[in-house]
Amino acid sequence: MARTILLLPGDGIGPEVISEAEKILAVFNQDFDLDVQVESADIGGAAYEKDGNPLPEEVLAAAKESSAILLGAVGGPQWETLERHLRPEAALLKLRAELDLFSNLRPAILFSQLADSSSLKPELVRDLDIMIVRELTGGIYFGQPRGVETRGGERVGFNTLVYSESEISRIAHSAFKIAQARKKRLCSVDKANVLEVSGLWRDVVESVATAYPDIELSHMYVDNAAMQLIRAPKQFDVIVTGNMFGDILSDCAAMLTGSIGMLPSASLNESAQGLYEPVHGSAPDIAGHGRANPLAAILSLSMMLRYSLAESDLADRLDQAVGHVLDSGLRTADIAWDNQYCTTAQMGDAVIEQLRTNLNDVKEI
Ligand code: IPM
Ligand code: MG
Repeated sequence: MARTILLLPGDGIGPEVISEAEKILAVFNQDFDLDVQVESADIGGAAYEKDGNPLPEEVLAAAKESSAILLGAVGGPQWETLERHLRPEAALLKLRAELDLFSNLRPAILFSQLADSSSLKPELVRDLDIMIVRELTGGIYFGQPRGVETRGGERVGFNTLVYSESEISRIAHSAFKIAQARKKRLCSVDKANVLEVSGLWRDVVESVATAYPDIELSHMYVDNAAMQLIRAPKQFDVIVTGNMFGDILSDCAAMLTGSIGMLPSASLNESAQGLYEPVHGSAPDIAGHGRANPLAAILSLSMMLRYSLAESDLADRLDQAVGHVLDSGLRTADIAWDNQYCTTAQMGDAVIEQLRTNLNDVKEI
Protein backbone atom coordinates (compact mmCIF):
# COMPACT_ATOMS: atom_id res chain seq x y z
CA MET A 1 0.00 0.00 0.00
CA ALA A 2 1.35 3.43 -0.96
CA ARG A 3 2.32 5.60 1.95
CA THR A 4 0.31 8.78 2.36
CA ILE A 5 1.82 12.23 2.75
CA LEU A 6 -0.49 14.91 4.07
CA LEU A 7 0.23 18.45 2.91
CA LEU A 8 -1.01 21.22 5.20
CA PRO A 9 -0.12 24.49 3.44
CA GLY A 10 -1.76 26.70 6.08
CA ASP A 11 -1.53 30.47 6.04
CA GLY A 12 0.52 33.34 4.64
CA ILE A 13 3.39 32.12 2.47
CA GLY A 14 2.64 28.51 3.51
CA PRO A 15 0.67 27.63 0.33
CA GLU A 16 3.33 29.15 -1.96
CA VAL A 17 6.25 27.25 -0.47
CA ILE A 18 4.36 23.97 -0.05
CA SER A 19 3.30 24.01 -3.68
CA GLU A 20 7.00 23.93 -4.69
CA ALA A 21 7.59 20.95 -2.40
CA GLU A 22 4.50 19.31 -3.90
CA LYS A 23 5.95 19.70 -7.41
CA ILE A 24 9.10 17.96 -6.23
CA LEU A 25 7.11 15.12 -4.66
CA ALA A 26 5.37 14.64 -8.03
CA VAL A 27 8.75 14.45 -9.78
CA PHE A 28 9.96 11.87 -7.23
CA ASN A 29 6.82 9.82 -7.84
CA GLN A 30 7.14 10.04 -11.63
CA ASP A 31 10.87 9.75 -12.24
CA PHE A 32 12.43 8.34 -9.10
CA ASP A 33 10.09 5.43 -8.17
CA LEU A 34 8.90 7.03 -4.97
CA ASP A 35 5.44 5.61 -4.45
CA VAL A 36 3.59 8.00 -2.18
CA GLN A 37 0.05 9.24 -2.25
CA VAL A 38 -0.26 12.96 -1.65
CA GLU A 39 -3.28 14.57 0.03
CA SER A 40 -3.90 18.18 1.08
CA ALA A 41 -6.01 19.86 3.73
CA ASP A 42 -6.46 23.21 5.42
CA ILE A 43 -5.06 24.08 8.81
CA GLY A 44 -4.73 27.22 10.92
CA GLY A 45 -6.40 30.42 9.83
CA ALA A 46 -7.32 28.89 6.47
CA ALA A 47 -9.25 26.11 8.21
CA TYR A 48 -10.79 28.50 10.73
CA GLU A 49 -12.21 30.63 7.90
CA LYS A 50 -13.93 27.60 6.33
CA ASP A 51 -14.89 25.54 9.38
CA GLY A 52 -14.58 27.83 12.38
CA ASN A 53 -11.94 25.40 13.69
CA PRO A 54 -8.18 25.73 13.05
CA LEU A 55 -7.80 21.93 13.16
CA PRO A 56 -10.99 20.25 11.91
CA GLU A 57 -11.59 16.69 13.20
CA GLU A 58 -11.20 15.14 9.74
CA VAL A 59 -7.86 16.87 9.24
CA LEU A 60 -6.61 15.55 12.57
CA ALA A 61 -7.82 12.08 11.57
CA ALA A 62 -6.05 12.32 8.18
CA ALA A 63 -2.88 13.45 9.95
CA LYS A 64 -3.00 10.43 12.26
CA GLU A 65 -3.41 8.11 9.26
CA SER A 66 -0.55 9.59 7.24
CA SER A 67 3.07 8.46 7.22
CA ALA A 68 4.24 12.04 7.34
CA ILE A 69 2.93 15.59 7.22
CA LEU A 70 4.43 18.59 5.47
CA LEU A 71 3.16 21.84 6.93
CA GLY A 72 3.71 25.34 5.52
CA ALA A 73 3.01 27.85 8.26
CA VAL A 74 0.11 28.98 10.43
CA GLY A 75 -0.94 32.37 11.73
CA GLY A 76 -1.58 35.93 10.72
CA PRO A 77 -2.56 39.25 12.31
CA GLN A 78 -6.25 38.82 11.46
CA TRP A 79 -6.55 35.85 13.87
CA GLU A 80 -4.52 37.24 16.77
CA THR A 81 -7.56 38.47 18.69
CA LEU A 82 -9.49 35.20 18.55
CA GLU A 83 -9.93 33.11 21.66
CA ARG A 84 -6.75 31.13 22.27
CA HIS A 85 -8.20 27.72 21.26
CA LEU A 86 -9.40 29.13 17.91
CA ARG A 87 -6.09 30.72 16.92
CA PRO A 88 -4.04 29.12 14.15
CA GLU A 89 -1.20 28.31 16.58
CA ALA A 90 -3.61 26.14 18.60
CA ALA A 91 -3.88 23.79 15.60
CA LEU A 92 -0.14 23.27 15.54
CA LEU A 93 0.05 22.66 19.28
CA LYS A 94 -2.84 20.18 19.13
CA LEU A 95 -1.29 18.32 16.21
CA ARG A 96 2.00 18.03 18.12
CA ALA A 97 0.21 16.76 21.23
CA GLU A 98 -2.26 14.38 19.51
CA LEU A 99 0.45 12.73 17.42
CA ASP A 100 2.86 12.72 20.37
CA LEU A 101 5.53 14.45 18.28
CA PHE A 102 7.86 14.94 21.22
CA SER A 103 11.18 15.16 19.41
CA ASN A 104 11.71 18.35 17.45
CA LEU A 105 14.85 18.53 15.34
CA ARG A 106 15.95 22.00 14.27
CA PRO A 107 19.18 22.09 12.33
CA ALA A 108 20.99 25.39 11.99
CA ILE A 109 23.29 24.99 9.03
CA LEU A 110 25.19 27.70 7.30
CA PHE A 111 25.28 27.05 3.58
CA SER A 112 28.77 27.98 2.46
CA GLN A 113 27.24 29.81 -0.52
CA LEU A 114 25.47 32.14 1.95
CA ALA A 115 28.31 32.76 4.43
CA ASP A 116 27.95 36.51 4.06
CA SER A 117 24.27 36.49 5.04
CA SER A 118 24.97 35.97 8.74
CA SER A 119 25.01 38.93 11.10
CA LEU A 120 28.09 37.39 12.73
CA LYS A 121 31.63 37.54 11.33
CA PRO A 122 32.17 34.88 8.67
CA GLU A 123 34.94 33.14 10.66
CA LEU A 124 32.55 32.61 13.60
CA VAL A 125 29.92 30.85 11.50
CA ARG A 126 31.78 29.27 8.56
CA ASP A 127 30.66 25.60 8.27
CA LEU A 128 28.26 26.04 11.17
CA ASP A 129 26.21 22.89 11.68
CA ILE A 130 24.22 22.68 14.93
CA MET A 131 21.26 20.45 15.69
CA ILE A 132 18.83 21.63 18.34
CA VAL A 133 16.70 18.84 19.77
CA ARG A 134 13.73 20.48 21.45
CA GLU A 135 11.23 18.62 23.63
CA LEU A 136 7.94 19.51 21.98
CA THR A 137 4.97 18.02 23.82
CA GLY A 138 5.62 18.90 27.45
CA GLY A 139 7.03 21.59 29.68
CA ILE A 140 5.41 24.95 30.21
CA TYR A 141 3.55 24.80 26.87
CA PHE A 142 1.27 22.05 28.11
CA GLY A 143 1.65 22.02 31.92
CA GLN A 144 -1.39 22.25 34.19
CA PRO A 145 -2.64 24.26 35.96
CA ARG A 146 -2.67 27.22 33.62
CA GLY A 147 -4.88 30.25 33.27
CA VAL A 148 -5.71 33.74 34.38
CA GLU A 149 -7.86 34.26 37.45
CA THR A 150 -8.70 36.98 39.90
CA ARG A 151 -6.94 36.74 43.25
CA GLY A 152 -7.17 39.43 45.90
CA GLY A 153 -8.85 41.84 43.52
CA GLU A 154 -6.34 41.61 40.70
CA ARG A 155 -5.81 39.30 37.74
CA VAL A 156 -3.07 36.69 38.06
CA GLY A 157 -1.73 34.69 35.12
CA PHE A 158 0.01 31.33 35.64
CA ASN A 159 1.52 28.43 33.73
CA THR A 160 3.28 25.33 34.99
CA LEU A 161 6.70 24.08 33.95
CA VAL A 162 6.51 20.35 34.53
CA TYR A 163 8.56 17.39 33.23
CA SER A 164 8.33 13.76 34.26
CA GLU A 165 11.32 11.41 34.23
CA SER A 166 9.90 9.48 31.27
CA GLU A 167 9.43 12.65 29.21
CA ILE A 168 13.01 13.73 29.90
CA SER A 169 14.42 10.30 29.28
CA ARG A 170 12.82 9.81 25.85
CA ILE A 171 13.98 13.17 24.50
CA ALA A 172 17.44 12.52 25.94
CA HIS A 173 17.60 9.16 24.12
CA SER A 174 16.56 10.92 20.87
CA ALA A 175 19.32 13.49 21.30
CA PHE A 176 22.04 10.99 22.21
CA LYS A 177 21.18 8.92 19.12
CA ILE A 178 21.36 11.98 16.91
CA ALA A 179 24.72 12.92 18.45
CA GLN A 180 25.98 9.42 17.64
CA ALA A 181 25.37 10.06 13.94
CA ARG A 182 27.17 13.43 14.15
CA LYS A 183 30.21 14.74 16.02
CA LYS A 184 29.29 12.91 19.24
CA ARG A 185 28.94 15.97 21.42
CA LEU A 186 25.74 16.75 23.31
CA CYS A 187 25.03 19.84 25.40
CA SER A 188 21.94 19.71 27.62
CA VAL A 189 20.52 23.15 28.36
CA ASP A 190 18.52 23.91 31.51
CA LYS A 191 18.15 26.36 34.39
CA ALA A 192 19.23 24.01 37.16
CA ASN A 193 20.61 26.85 39.29
CA VAL A 194 17.04 28.07 39.88
CA LEU A 195 14.43 25.48 38.85
CA GLU A 196 13.73 22.11 40.51
CA VAL A 197 12.42 20.74 37.25
CA SER A 198 15.80 21.51 35.66
CA GLY A 199 17.58 19.68 38.50
CA LEU A 200 15.54 16.60 37.66
CA TRP A 201 16.22 17.17 33.93
CA ARG A 202 19.98 17.11 34.62
CA ASP A 203 19.76 13.95 36.78
CA VAL A 204 17.79 12.07 34.14
CA VAL A 205 20.03 13.18 31.25
CA GLU A 206 23.07 12.05 33.31
CA SER A 207 21.56 8.62 33.87
CA VAL A 208 20.58 8.20 30.20
CA ALA A 209 24.18 9.14 29.31
CA THR A 210 25.51 5.89 30.79
CA ALA A 211 24.00 4.07 27.78
CA TYR A 212 26.00 6.30 25.40
CA PRO A 213 29.62 6.19 26.57
CA ASP A 214 30.79 7.38 23.13
CA ILE A 215 29.04 10.75 23.57
CA GLU A 216 30.68 13.68 25.31
CA LEU A 217 27.92 15.23 27.45
CA SER A 218 27.98 18.74 28.88
CA HIS A 219 25.39 20.90 30.66
CA MET A 220 24.79 24.61 30.31
CA TYR A 221 22.38 27.11 31.83
CA VAL A 222 20.02 28.58 29.28
CA ASP A 223 21.14 32.19 29.72
CA ASN A 224 24.75 31.19 29.12
CA ALA A 225 23.70 29.01 26.17
CA ALA A 226 22.01 32.01 24.54
CA MET A 227 25.22 34.00 25.01
CA GLN A 228 27.49 31.19 23.79
CA LEU A 229 25.37 30.72 20.66
CA ILE A 230 26.17 34.29 19.68
CA ARG A 231 29.75 34.33 21.03
CA ALA A 232 31.12 31.05 19.68
CA PRO A 233 28.38 28.97 18.04
CA LYS A 234 30.71 26.37 16.58
CA GLN A 235 31.41 24.94 20.06
CA PHE A 236 28.04 23.16 19.77
CA ASP A 237 27.19 19.97 17.94
CA VAL A 238 23.83 18.80 19.36
CA ILE A 239 21.84 20.76 21.95
CA VAL A 240 18.98 19.11 23.85
CA THR A 241 16.54 21.20 25.84
CA GLY A 242 12.95 21.65 26.97
CA ASN A 243 10.07 23.11 25.04
CA MET A 244 10.29 26.83 25.81
CA PHE A 245 14.09 27.09 26.01
CA GLY A 246 14.20 25.24 22.67
CA ASP A 247 11.71 27.64 21.13
CA ILE A 248 13.91 30.60 22.00
CA LEU A 249 17.34 29.08 21.33
CA SER A 250 16.27 27.66 17.97
CA ASP A 251 15.28 31.12 16.70
CA CYS A 252 18.60 32.42 17.94
CA ALA A 253 20.49 29.62 16.17
CA ALA A 254 18.45 30.09 13.01
CA MET A 255 19.46 33.71 12.79
CA LEU A 256 23.15 32.78 13.02
CA THR A 257 22.77 31.36 9.55
CA GLY A 258 21.34 34.65 8.32
CA SER A 259 18.80 32.82 6.26
CA ILE A 260 15.78 31.69 8.22
CA GLY A 261 14.16 31.08 4.80
CA MET A 262 16.49 28.10 4.38
CA LEU A 263 15.90 26.16 7.59
CA PRO A 264 13.76 23.01 7.85
CA SER A 265 12.53 21.15 10.93
CA ALA A 266 11.18 17.75 11.86
CA SER A 267 8.94 16.70 14.74
CA LEU A 268 8.93 12.96 15.35
CA ASN A 269 7.14 10.47 17.58
CA GLU A 270 8.29 7.03 18.74
CA SER A 271 7.16 5.42 15.47
CA ALA A 272 9.07 7.90 13.24
CA GLN A 273 5.84 9.41 12.03
CA GLY A 274 6.74 13.04 11.51
CA LEU A 275 5.52 16.56 11.00
CA TYR A 276 7.91 18.54 8.82
CA GLU A 277 7.83 22.30 8.53
CA PRO A 278 9.99 25.25 7.60
CA VAL A 279 11.25 27.20 10.61
CA HIS A 280 10.11 30.51 9.11
CA GLY A 281 6.59 31.61 9.90
CA SER A 282 3.69 32.63 7.70
CA ALA A 283 5.30 36.03 6.78
CA PRO A 284 1.95 37.69 5.98
CA ASP A 285 3.75 40.83 4.76
CA ILE A 286 5.11 39.05 1.67
CA ALA A 287 2.35 36.45 1.19
CA GLY A 288 0.95 36.12 -2.30
CA HIS A 289 3.79 37.97 -4.03
CA GLY A 290 5.90 35.00 -5.10
CA ARG A 291 8.78 36.38 -3.06
CA ALA A 292 9.03 33.65 -0.43
CA ASN A 293 11.99 31.30 -0.34
CA PRO A 294 10.71 27.72 -0.86
CA LEU A 295 14.01 26.11 0.14
CA ALA A 296 13.08 25.65 3.82
CA ALA A 297 9.96 23.75 2.72
CA ILE A 298 11.99 21.79 0.17
CA LEU A 299 14.63 20.92 2.77
CA SER A 300 11.81 19.93 5.15
CA LEU A 301 10.71 17.49 2.45
CA SER A 302 14.26 16.19 2.40
CA MET A 303 14.15 15.61 6.18
CA MET A 304 10.85 13.76 5.65
CA LEU A 305 12.44 11.49 3.06
CA ARG A 306 15.27 10.77 5.48
CA TYR A 307 13.49 10.38 8.82
CA SER A 308 9.97 9.10 8.04
CA LEU A 309 10.17 7.48 4.61
CA ALA A 310 13.60 5.79 4.84
CA GLU A 311 14.54 7.27 1.46
CA SER A 312 17.90 8.76 2.34
CA ASP A 313 19.13 8.36 -1.24
CA LEU A 314 16.38 10.72 -2.45
CA ALA A 315 17.07 13.06 0.48
CA ASP A 316 20.74 13.23 -0.51
CA ARG A 317 19.80 13.96 -4.12
CA LEU A 318 17.47 16.73 -3.04
CA ASP A 319 20.06 18.31 -0.71
CA GLN A 320 22.61 18.15 -3.52
CA ALA A 321 20.22 19.73 -5.99
CA VAL A 322 19.61 22.62 -3.57
CA GLY A 323 23.38 23.04 -3.18
CA HIS A 324 23.87 23.16 -6.94
CA VAL A 325 21.11 25.71 -7.39
CA LEU A 326 22.74 27.94 -4.75
CA ASP A 327 26.11 27.43 -6.47
CA SER A 328 24.54 28.66 -9.69
CA GLY A 329 23.85 31.97 -7.93
CA LEU A 330 20.05 31.81 -8.02
CA ARG A 331 18.59 33.66 -5.04
CA THR A 332 15.17 34.51 -3.68
CA ALA A 333 14.80 38.02 -2.22
CA ASP A 334 15.60 37.00 1.39
CA ILE A 335 19.07 35.73 0.49
CA ALA A 336 19.89 38.07 -2.41
CA TRP A 337 22.43 40.84 -2.01
CA ASP A 338 21.09 43.02 -4.79
CA ASN A 339 17.89 43.38 -6.76
CA GLN A 340 18.61 40.27 -8.80
CA TYR A 341 16.26 37.75 -7.29
CA CYS A 342 13.96 35.03 -8.53
CA THR A 343 10.40 34.08 -7.61
CA THR A 344 9.29 31.26 -5.36
CA ALA A 345 8.28 29.15 -8.37
CA GLN A 346 11.51 29.84 -10.27
CA MET A 347 13.49 28.56 -7.30
CA GLY A 348 11.35 25.40 -7.12
CA ASP A 349 11.69 24.84 -10.86
CA ALA A 350 15.46 25.25 -10.68
CA VAL A 351 15.68 22.54 -8.00
CA ILE A 352 13.57 20.22 -10.18
CA GLU A 353 15.72 20.91 -13.23
CA GLN A 354 18.81 20.10 -11.19
CA LEU A 355 17.28 16.85 -9.91
CA ARG A 356 16.47 15.81 -13.48
CA THR A 357 19.91 16.81 -14.80
CA ASN A 358 21.60 14.77 -12.10
CA LEU A 359 19.33 11.82 -12.84
CA ASN A 360 20.20 11.93 -16.55
CA ASP A 361 23.90 12.21 -15.72
CA VAL A 362 23.61 9.06 -13.64
CA LYS A 363 21.72 7.23 -16.41
CA GLU A 364 24.38 8.13 -18.99
CA ILE A 365 27.27 6.71 -16.95
C1 IPM B 1 7.71 27.38 16.79
C2 IPM B 1 6.66 28.44 16.95
C3 IPM B 1 5.50 27.84 17.73
C4 IPM B 1 6.02 27.48 19.09
C5 IPM B 1 4.25 28.72 17.82
C6 IPM B 1 3.77 29.15 16.44
C7 IPM B 1 3.16 28.06 18.59
O1 IPM B 1 7.19 29.56 17.54
O2 IPM B 1 7.40 26.33 16.20
O3 IPM B 1 8.84 27.60 17.24
O4 IPM B 1 6.11 28.32 19.98
O5 IPM B 1 6.36 26.31 19.30
MG1 MG C 1 9.31 29.49 17.79
